[in-house]
Amino acid sequence: MQVWTVANQKGGVGKTTTSITLAGLAAEQGKRVLIIDLDPQGSLTCYFGGNPDDVPISVFTLFQDKSIICRDSILQLLLPTGYDDISLLPASTALATLERVAVGKGGLGLVICQTVAELKEEFDVVIIDSPPVLGVLLINALAACDQLIIPVQTEHLAIKGLERMLHTLRMLDHSRKRELKYVILPTMFDKRTQASVVALRHIRSQYGTDTWPSKIPVDTRLRDASRMGIPPHIFDGTSHGVTAYRSLYRWLLKEQQSVQDDQAGRNHYTTNNSWAAYNQRSRVQGLV
Ligand SMILES: Nc1ncnc2c1ncn2[C@@H]1O[C@H](COP(=O)(O)OP(=O)(O)OP(=O)(O)O)[C@@H](O)[C@H]1O
Ligand SMILES: [Mg+2]
Repeated sequence: MQVWTVANQKGGVGKTTTSITLAGLAAEQGKRVLIIDLDPQGSLTCYFGGNPDDVPISVFTLFQDKSIICRDSILQLLLPTGYDDISLLPASTALATLERVAVGKGGLGLVICQTVAELKEEFDVVIIDSPPVLGVLLINALAACDQLIIPVQTEHLAIKGLERMLHTLRMLDHSRKRELKYVILPTMFDKRTQASVVALRHIRSQYGTDTWPSKIPVDTRLRDASRMGIPPHIFDGTSHGVTAYRSLYRWLLKEQQSVQDDQAGRNHYTTNNSWAAYNQRSRVQGLV
């Protein structure tokens, strides 16, 4: 089973779009896919016609009562999406209260990690969409995955958000003494605008080895697919956006394979060249 988290503390950078598109492409390849919506906004849940304001059961249930984190109970929380091979663990807006509820409760950081472990025979790919806020939910999303995808909109302010996200990762890495594999994903690239071109150049010069070698173009078909609530690969499988995501999907599989080949038998938080390169650069810049 592969577990991919899509996260960035900056909002509106393409996290949900990346989650749904990769999920669709994995399903297209015959994989059994689970999407976990960890965002109280419930964008993915809405995508599939759910209403996060009144879903009776959701991922929140698992945070309320950790004793039900076992295969059979979790399976009862999943919603069919209407698409073969894609299941959804929906969000509810109650998730927004979690920070308050979590105070003094302790031990809520691994709820999703444990959940995913219970489902390892049921799914081939798990994709976790996360909120643009640092808190219990984002920590859960990061703790549960073996590959982190950080979408960054190719514009100036979004690059600032990326720094925050990398800082969070560094803190987590430090406290766990383990290193999470990640890739920076330039999104919404518009070759006609100077701002986009400059931002992409900046991302590549600062984070070259950690950045996906290509980019996701701005494509209104992705927006249209979202408005219609149809997975992008079904809405328009040959659009520029989906084509770019398809090559990202293939790249992720290859990366995963090479890690497995290199480090068979070791746990998933393994030393990664990108991470080492980032730490090295940070030290040089006096950031850590
Ligand atoms: N490559 C793209 N081209 C055009 N529009 C896009 C692209 N990617 C995402 N969008 C649109 O941009 C908006 C924000 O995208 P999305 O919801 O995926 O971001 P997000 O990071 O999940 O936001 P939030 O932080 O609020 O959860 C949406 O309207 C989406 O349809
Ligand atoms: Mg989102």
